[in-house]
Amino acid sequence: MTAYDYTTATIVDKSESEIILVGDSLAMIMLGYKSTVGVTLDDMIHFTRPVVKGAPSTFVIGDMPFGSYNVSPEQAIASANRLLMETNCDCVKLEGGSEMAPTIENMVKAGIIVVGHIGMTPQTSTSFGGFRVQGGTPESAKKLVEDAIALEKAGVIGIVVECVPNAVGKAIRDAVSVPVMGTGAGPDVDCQVMVTQDLLGMYGDFRPKFVKHFAQVRSEMVKGLNLFHEETISGAFPTPEYCFNKSVEIPKLY
Ligand code: KIV
Repeated sequence: MTAYDYTTATIVDKSESEIILVGDSLAMIMLGYKSTVGVTLDDMIHFTRPVVKGAPSTFVIGDMPFGSYNVSPEQAIASANRLLMETNCDCVKLEGGSEMAPTIENMVKAGIIVVGHIGMTPQTSTSFGGFRVQGGTPESAKKLVEDAIALEKAGVIGIVVECVPNAVGKAIRDAVSVPVMGTGAGPDVDCQVMVTQDLLGMYGDFRPKFVKHFAQVRSEMVKGLNLFHEETISGAFPTPEYCFNKSVEIPKLY
């Protein structure tokens, strides 16, 4: 599950979920940006720190934002070091296939635990026409399998595979021995990763095809706010049990 704040982290920590991803999807979900590109390393550190605090018994993956690892392996190591050291998260995730393998190899040699991310990679989605299913042709599917193999060779501990046909998710899982974490990659992967606000029905801007709402938290929240409003207007709230009822003699000031 994703979490971007302390309260949500405490809830996920209490659930059966095994892993928290502080994804850069927080750009859209928490900040209302159009894409993940505007989020900075400082932003990611700011949001990851309270999640680690709220989820002491859950493995936390910190997401490396666009621009924090694509200049050089040295830049990637320095950024990952900051994310790990300033938040205490357990490992980092970054997007990209074979082209990122040399960088990841260097990061792993430097002692950094890395998760890969291939398929529909939101940080570079403009280059392939937006948030679209990837791996829909034999050539592009083969390239994704090759990317996964290159990432495994580079030393990742797991690979997020986003928005690909089921057959591609399965082919990737069959090709590597590290866990394949699917999001919109069908059922034949090792686990599913989802944005919490998506699956609980909280985020209202859009709903990707692969998102199922397992709860209707958004409408419950609106209902609760409206009830508060109604009872406040009618005087039904606050009743004495919600008040500090101690009598106090207040000196006359005027
Ligand atoms: O940023 C994110 O939330 C992600 C997941 C959707 C995999 O990368």
